[in-house]
Amino acid sequence: MNINKRNFINLSDIKKKELNKILNRAVSLKKSRIKTRSFKNSLYGVNLAMIFEKPSTRTRVSFEIAIKELGGQAIILDESTTHLARGETVADTARVLDRYCQAFMIRTNNHHKLLEYESYANAPIINGLSNLSHPCQVMADIMAYEENRGKILKKKVTWMGDLNNVLYSWVEASNIFGFNLYIAHPKQVRLNADLKKISKGKKNVIFTQDIKEAVNNSNCVITDTWFSMGSKMNNLSEKYFMKYQVNKKNLKGAHEKYAFLHCLPAKRGKEVSGEIIDDNKISIVWDAAENRLHVQKAILEWCLKKI
Ligand code: CP
Ligand code: NVA
Repeated sequence: MNINKRNFINLSDIKKKELNKILNRAVSLKKSRIKTRSFKNSLYGVNLAMIFEKPSTRTRVSFEIAIKELGGQAIILDESTTHLARGETVADTARVLDRYCQAFMIRTNNHHKLLEYESYANAPIINGLSNLSHPCQVMADIMAYEENRGKILKKKVTWMGDLNNVLYSWVEASNIFGFNLYIAHPKQVRLNADLKKISKGKKNVIFTQDIKEAVNNSNCVITDTWFSMGSKMNNLSEKYFMKYQVNKKNLKGAHEKYAFLHCLPAKRGKEVSGEIIDDNKISIVWDAAENRLHVQKAILEWCLKKI
């Protein structure tokens, strides 16, 4: 194991100063891409291995364009078409790919596999979503919030709906970036042990069933699918969730300039109404989706010690 390498697995593994460095770099990469479309080749010759155990649109496309625009190339592996699906171990796969590739991006159902790749590969490991967390997404979301509404520091942020991997990264971010996070969820949806552990003792993270408490004067409202990839759909839970839909009625009382975020893909009429996600004065989801590209370029540069 290379103890000097930089991985991007969870936000709380990384110092605030470094996360801010990544965000600032993403802002400047975004500006220069819009202005000149000239790319600096900072990662010339870097081969990025991307391993997907689950579907993806944004993560796959934005990482592939990111590495290409920085002068490197992407090797995209659908796990089911590799020998991993036939029993070759993660340890052996990591050691082999490490001989070809200088960075890994992994989307997995099992967060422990990221840690296994981390311990067997010398190249940095980036979490492209796991059952536990989705740090690249939350970095892009924070960038979108700050470019549209100013600093997130001391703001009231509201999460509504399921208690999932994206929320885990928001909870981590709340401490690092200094905002208050209110989480409104059906009482039938219980906190899992991981979320319980990272929220414990955090005064700025409030779990509630009271939508008004969570939404009142909120600066930013976030939701996500009620059924994450790999979790079972269930009509009964849909009934519980419905009350927590992000819609105009539930958001009465939010700050007049509140923003709406969703990592996408979204289901209109389920976790969010069309009137919210398609209202360009409120919804900044397209900016956040675009920012995946810029943030991930900066993450790749940071992991490979170019910034
Ligand atoms: N938000 C996100 O990670 O999207 P994909 O599943 O399309 O990659
Ligand atoms: N929570 C969702 C996020 C998708 C980008 C999932 O894990 O399916």
